[in-house]
Amino acid sequence: MQKEKLIEKILKLKKKRKAIILAHNYQPPEIQDIADLRGDSLELSLKASKTDAEVIVFCGVFFMAETAKIVSPQKKVLLPVKDVPCEMAEMITPEDVLDLKNKYPNAPVVTYVNSYAEIKALSDICCTSANAVKVVGTLKENTVIMLPDMNLAQYVQRFYPDKKIIYHEGFCPFHHLLTPEEVIKAKKEHPKAVFIAHPECRPEVIDLAEYVASTSGMLKLAKELPYKEFIIGTEVGLLYPLKKENPDKIFYHPSPEKMFCVSMKKISLEDLFNALENLEFEIELPEEIIRKAQNAVKRMLEIV
Ligand code: 13P
Ligand code: SF4
Repeated sequence: MQKEKLIEKILKLKKKRKAIILAHNYQPPEIQDIADLRGDSLELSLKASKTDAEVIVFCGVFFMAETAKIVSPQKKVLLPVKDVPCEMAEMITPEDVLDLKNKYPNAPVVTYVNSYAEIKALSDICCTSANAVKVVGTLKENTVIMLPDMNLAQYVQRFYPDKKIIYHEGFCPFHHLLTPEEVIKAKKEHPKAVFIAHPECRPEVIDLAEYVASTSGMLKLAKELPYKEFIIGTEVGLLYPLKKENPDKIFYHPSPEKMFCVSMKKISLEDLFNALENLEFEIELPEEIIRKAQNAVKRMLEIV
């Protein structure tokens, strides 16, 4: 089908289904362009919790659509492609969480939203890359468990020298692969550019960053800072909205081949059309998991 025709059909179906389309900042350009809202994990969780649409079509990875279902269990939440796992979310099991809870029984469990519902259900509070520092700051305990991203946990630790952050050794392979050498090379090639890193990057990369931010945080910084050139330390998909919103600025990527999240690129306009036409693939979760995970997500949403 011709692209314009397909877009027209999607918009018509969206109205008929009383649906809203949400897209993460790493999604393919045509998906970002057709979405009602594009954003980082925090913005999308908030939007999902407030929408009065009957159907939420989530263009992102599986944990994001699950999060939308957790905050809106009465709504139909659809993921246009079934097989879109987050590799970081795959790195932790409920047994890992229970082991840590047994070892540190008085430590609250702070779980990054990049995790499955059953992990959130075992947690006290969730966080995103945009609010992790703030969330941990609200906890009175001195020992805190953070899951599943060791890089985010070590980044948060920098802000609280008096706290002990225990972490699970998970990571995002695409962010973790960025090396300090690649950043140093990019800085040498572009001496006027400022380097912004995502907190999922390894500590040695964070050490080289002028700024550390979530994906939407990066979009905000690029718009507001007076600089003209930026080196972007996150998944390569963010370059599309950065360039679109800032045509007068230049964005470089230090490792575009490695920092490419395969799951984030799987959804096409055809998939989006099929999702709305056939109401698939619906996210279904056991009530008990929803209830427990909801407490952790709601506690996060109350403080942002
Ligand atoms: P944010 O968009 O919340 O910064 O998260 C990045 C990410 O890796 C999402 O999968
Ligand atoms: Fe998960 Fe990394 Fe992909 Fe984000 S970029 S969805 S953390 S695998």
